[in-house]
Amino acid sequence: MSEPADLLFTNVRLATMADGGHGIIDDAALAVRGGRIAWAGRRLDAPPAAQVHDCGGAWMTPGLVDCHTHIVHAGTRSHEWEARLNGASYEDIARQGGGILSTVRATRAAADDELLRQSVPRVRALLAEGVTTLEIKSGYGLTLETEAKMLRTARRIGELLPVKVCTTFLGAHALPPEFAGRADDYIDEVCERMLPALAGEGLVDAVDAFCERIGFTHAQTRRVFDAARRLGLPVKLHAEQLSDQGGAALVAEYGGLSADHLECLTPDGVAAMARAGTVAVLLPGAYHFLRETRMPPLQALREAGVPLAVATDCNPGTSPLTSLLLAMNLACTLWRLTPLEALLGCTAHAARALGRGDIGTLAPGKRADLALWDIERPADLAYAMGARPCRLVVHGGVPRLPDASLDLQLAG
Ligand code: NIG
Ligand code: FE
Repeated sequence: MSEPADLLFTNVRLATMADGGHGIIDDAALAVRGGRIAWAGRRLDAPPAAQVHDCGGAWMTPGLVDCHTHIVHAGTRSHEWEARLNGASYEDIARQGGGILSTVRATRAAADDELLRQSVPRVRALLAEGVTTLEIKSGYGLTLETEAKMLRTARRIGELLPVKVCTTFLGAHALPPEFAGRADDYIDEVCERMLPALAGEGLVDAVDAFCERIGFTHAQTRRVFDAARRLGLPVKLHAEQLSDQGGAALVAEYGGLSADHLECLTPDGVAAMARAGTVAVLLPGAYHFLRETRMPPLQALREAGVPLAVATDCNPGTSPLTSLLLAMNLACTLWRLTPLEALLGCTAHAARALGRGDIGTLAPGKRADLALWDIERPADLAYAMGARPCRLVVHGGVPRLPDASLDLQLAG
């Protein structure tokens, strides 16, 4: 290296998550310069640095990436959860105007600062466990103004808190009541008015839809993807969650970043995803919370070489989950992911699901987004339920304590 590094983490055990494995380097060091990883390797070979941090033998991984959330929303749906435990089904509740539409009502009614105030504690919970990148979807506004409010709130979170936020426009999440019986007209509105305006304001990193009996059809989803393509935006899809709609093959046809949920995925869908390099985003929180019994076809996905990511799906209806470590544990216990698969799913593969080549592994040139852990071995991250093993987080080369964001005072 030509000049000294800004910061050297030494006496550390690295799980680099590079090349599809843990990529362990014992008795290691990692150097940061200009907010990027400058060097990683054996401690004895470490370059000089302006500042040295002795990690006391702790483990370091890439900062965690939660690649599928609806974390910006107002209100809760605990009453619906209770109704389901008294016998109603998720689809029944949705058809009666509850479900997503009940969160739409609450989110539309919330002023900007109120939406931020309700969303920030959920984000803080993720940050306290080493999350450094977070995807946030719209989809509870369903008008141009209220979708913009959600996406601006997501962007503000990325400005106020030490986390990189990737925004996804999910205007085709549910049919708003003012378009009842006119789903195609609403898709016109999404494609011709909402998406171009929001993209023009720089609020959209990717485009998603809910392709489902209670969402939008295959043909309507295709129109949303065509609109995204015209604007040069990548696509992803809520696919095959409650029924098989051929959504995974559709998003793969558009070279999509990811197909998410996938409990009802067919062999054709698996093959299409493998051909396109589309990531399978697994959402075990929703599976658990809906008491689903059909599992994503994991063995087929593995055999086809489809990368597996794991995310919280944090949302008030199907996955009120603000722990990515618990999502990892659920993926392992409910679906028998290996702890290595779960950790790849929240690092390297989650980065890929967001189309971000600059994060997700500990390799020279990547953003210095790092998490330092008090654990004996990497599997402990998925093993312990409710533990808080994160000791230090580094975001773009800047260290912070896991709970440092708790000091943030929001106006109002
Ligand atoms: O990922 N499936 C659709 N969207 C969310 C649920 C949203 C809700 O019920 O509020 C999901 O599960
Ligand atoms: Fe979701």
